[in-house]
Amino acid sequence: MANAIEKIQEEHKDYGRVLNALRAGVKTLRGIEWRRQAGQTPEAGADYRATLDLLFSAVYYVRLFPDKYHHPKEEDFLFKAIRERRPDSADLLDQLALQHSVGARLIDELDASLKAYEKTHPDGLEALEAATENFVTSQFDHMSLEEEKVIPLAKSVLTEADWHTIDNAFLGNADPLFGENLEAGFRMLHDHIVKGLNAA
Ligand SMILES: [Fe+2]
Ligand SMILES: [Fe+2]
Repeated sequence: MANAIEKIQEEHKDYGRVLNALRAGVKTLRGIEWRRQAGQTPEAGADYRATLDLLFSAVYYVRLFPDKYHHPKEEDFLFKAIRERRPDSADLLDQLALQHSVGARLIDELDASLKAYEKTHPDGLEALEAATENFVTSQFDHMSLEEEKVIPLAKSVLTEADWHTIDNAFLGNADPLFGENLEAGFRMLHDHIVKGLNAA
């Protein structure tokens, strides 16, 4: 049991750090804008173009990491097993699956607002701030619901055999090369975004 649960929590932490970096990057843009309006030079390290490029990388990460790596394991293995053991949990699991698709739509809005801001800046910063906050809040709410409701439920209803299948999926054992390559790529991108946006 511990393997899959630990892996989910670890992935949530990684994802959360990129979400916080997104917020930090947009805040940096706001700081650059304030100083520009006040006729001051940007703070050391606060570079408009570099921040924007890192934000594009962050949007790429938050689009792919959940959708290609994290959610399929939740939906195809963890949620599926809970559904079989506890049919009365269907509403909760449906709500979470719906949140996965709403998240994808909110990323489209965030992506569009970032591209628009790149073209029209300094206009468009409010829209980018709103889309970022909308997306980031939805993702933290979603992870809290999984950690507070789904993980305790899974621990109480799943059998050893269920956990064996789920652990294998979460540790990438079904396709080790695919899992390993993907994980290494996400790790490098994660570190680049988190370090870059928090330093700006
Ligand atoms: Fe999820
Ligand atoms: Fe999750």
